[in-house]
Amino acid sequence: MQQSSELFFASSNEHKFEEVQRILSNLGVNIKLFKTTSEEIQSNSLNEIAKRKAIDAFTKIQKPIIIEDDGLFINSLNGFPGPYSSYAYDTIGNKGIIQLLPNSEHRDAKFVAIIAYYNGIDEVKLFESSIPGKISKEIEKGGWGYDPIFIPDGESKTYANVLDKDKFSHRSASLKKFSDWFMHKH
Ligand code: IMP
Repeated sequence: MQQSSELFFASSNEHKFEEVQRILSNLGVNIKLFKTTSEEIQSNSLNEIAKRKAIDAFTKIQKPIIIEDDGLFINSLNGFPGPYSSYAYDTIGNKGIIQLLPNSEHRDAKFVAIIAYYNGIDEVKLFESSIPGKISKEIEKGGWGYDPIFIPDGESKTYANVLDKDKFSHRSASLKKFSDWFMHKH
């Protein structure tokens, strides 16, 4: 099915946009960047944050948009940083996260991505996926954000150094759900 209308991706993060654009174009969906910084909403729910970010972005651009909200949930820290991943990254960073798990063998974590679509008419639509993995003991070189410390299950390297992050990333999985819906909606 053909995409009939213009679609924007609202974000201030160009790394994220690059990945989203690459993944979606392979799925037949074209997007344009709407570069904007949304107010960081505090909530314990990624769904709630994603929903509010989508409405906020739509209010500014008045065109159909998608946004993505992510969270890194570490089991032994009861899910921290989760919905506070962006704040934790900006404050303690990858070094701080690793220091919270000194020599611990309990390093299981998951990366969650929520895609929210809003056209100003229908309810906000949410598409969620998560990828299980582990927090590395060392910070690897390369990548962006938490890439250098997140090892997806089945791999020996972090997102920063895997051969094809798009093949199994939390982002790809939720974008696939979104594109399946979006291409049939239009
Ligand atoms: P955000 O609030 O949705 O932008 O994401 C929460 C935090 O997770 C931010 O610090 C992002 O940089 C980080 N993040 C989201 N996706 C990825 C990824 O694919 N790799 C590494 N870090 C990510």
